[in-house]
Amino acid sequence: MSDSEGERLQKVLARVGYGSRRTCEELIAQGRVTVNGEVAVLGRRVEVETDLVEVDRAPVGVLPGLVYYLLNKPIGVVTTADDPQGRASVLEFVPATPRVFSVGRLDLQTEGLLVLTNDGTLAQLLAHPRFGVEKEYLAELRGVPSPGALRCLREGVLIDGERTAPARVAAVSPGVVRIVIHEGRNRQVRRMCEAVGYPVVRLVRTRIGPITDRSLRPGAWRPLEAAEVRSLAEAALRSSAER
Ligand code: URA
Repeated sequence: MSDSEGERLQKVLARVGYGSRRTCEELIAQGRVTVNGEVAVLGRRVEVETDLVEVDRAPVGVLPGLVYYLLNKPIGVVTTADDPQGRASVLEFVPATPRVFSVGRLDLQTEGLLVLTNDGTLAQLLAHPRFGVEKEYLAELRGVPSPGALRCLREGVLIDGERTAPARVAAVSPGVVRIVIHEGRNRQVRRMCEAVGYPVVRLVRTRIGPITDRSLRPGAWRPLEAAEVRSLAEAALRSSAER
């Protein structure tokens, strides 16, 4: 690529939320920005369609047209695009264009936060088991779990013959627990609670990595801010380094 092609890197970074152009120039000068794996120097131009831009090793979605939504999924809605049984999809709650997909899944009967995007790079990063970001759930249980049951949930229980990774579990009120996991096995929280004898009667996801929003009503959505998108990617990379 010749020097005159593409957009100035600091301009691209500023547009996607890394601060003022001056701040972005500093990021570049500090050697924290790479383009296609090489440390970028001031004056670097990029083709947003083809170049891979990373800040502190976290890929940056620089393509114009990428959208990121945070939806509070209501009960009774599927996270897939097409449902053979014709049930409503989460896609009906957000703008139809550009076409987005949900990052990960929530069960039909589970409520709470879900990210929808058309950014395949971020979706892959978040979906990969090695990059398991924390997910926090509030689970209302049938019965008040004993200290032994809570300990089992924390230490791991067998699901399909495989032990779940240690989880953070706290009793919030009688019969309600906060569970933080970083794996994404099918119906994991429900099956964990069932395994210790306290089936879930209501399940709400309250946090995805650093992303939380207590003001979003079921069925409501909002765009994620650029800084939130960045912090999600960073959380994924951090969790992979810790594992
Ligand atoms: N765990 C579950 O059991 N269900 C979900 O939808 C998410 C996590």
